[in-house]
Amino acid sequence: MDFEKIIDLVKSARNIIAEQSELHIETKGEADFVTAVDFAISDFLKAELQALTPEIGFLSEEEEGKISDACWILDPIDGTTNLIYGYNLSSVSLGLYINGEIIFGVVYNPFTDELFTAEKGKGAFLNGKRLQVSSRQSHEALIEFGAECTHKENAEKNFRLACEIFCHCVDLRRICSSALDLCYIAAGRIDGYFEKLLKPWDIAAGSLILQEAGGRISDFAGEPLQFALPSSVIAGNTATFEYLLQTIKKHEV
Ligand code: IPD
Ligand code: CA
Ligand code: CA
Repeated sequence: MDFEKIIDLVKSARNIIAEQSELHIETKGEADFVTAVDFAISDFLKAELQALTPEIGFLSEEEEGKISDACWILDPIDGTTNLIYGYNLSSVSLGLYINGEIIFGVVYNPFTDELFTAEKGKGAFLNGKRLQVSSRQSHEALIEFGAECTHKENAEKNFRLACEIFCHCVDLRRICSSALDLCYIAAGRIDGYFEKLLKPWDIAAGSLILQEAGGRISDFAGEPLQFALPSSVIAGNTATFEYLLQTIKKHEV
């Protein structure tokens, strides 16, 4: 497979965003939006990937569809709210799922031109430079808190957990693009991340990039991620991951 060609296609998102004169924002649910940019990138990558790899299926947040044994998993814009508000932390996230695992991932921030990539077993890279998670201990960590903004009925429980973690670590972050959260751990910019409910396209590419940089990832029970269904996520360098897993398990009982 020509992964360089796939990466070039993903980077076309920068031009697609520049060409879109209006966002045409639609509301899908509570604090959940989609724009013309999301649809344009999804449609473009679907057509290009199907032409290039007709034997591989295609799952996108903005398309009806199901995961198959060999499948591209796309979030055309991860961080749509950031895009709408001009808060330039959004990404295009594309993973290649084959028989239960992600074997290739690319996460691209078109605003900063930062390109995160990984092939299974070959390491993770940011604009070609090899990535390694930090070696910070959990009390030294910056941790992304995925607050489940589309399910505010869970806010009290989620913030109780976040409060305990906040008091233990250096500080919490709210980047609000799951794909970038995982890549930022891979790059050692932050040290951990937890969120109660994520979709396959939020985590497919980022989970591989994180693991190829030496990071750990699981659901809230400590089980490996399944990409066929929504899942909770804990991610981090080893020390932060272990701390988050123990702390979250205590809150989940
Ligand atoms: C969202 C982002 C955000 C996470 C939400 C996701 P979207 O994706 O990844 O970080 O907290 O759960 O839904 O809607 O911007 O593609
Ligand atoms: Ca997303
Ligand atoms: Ca999205």
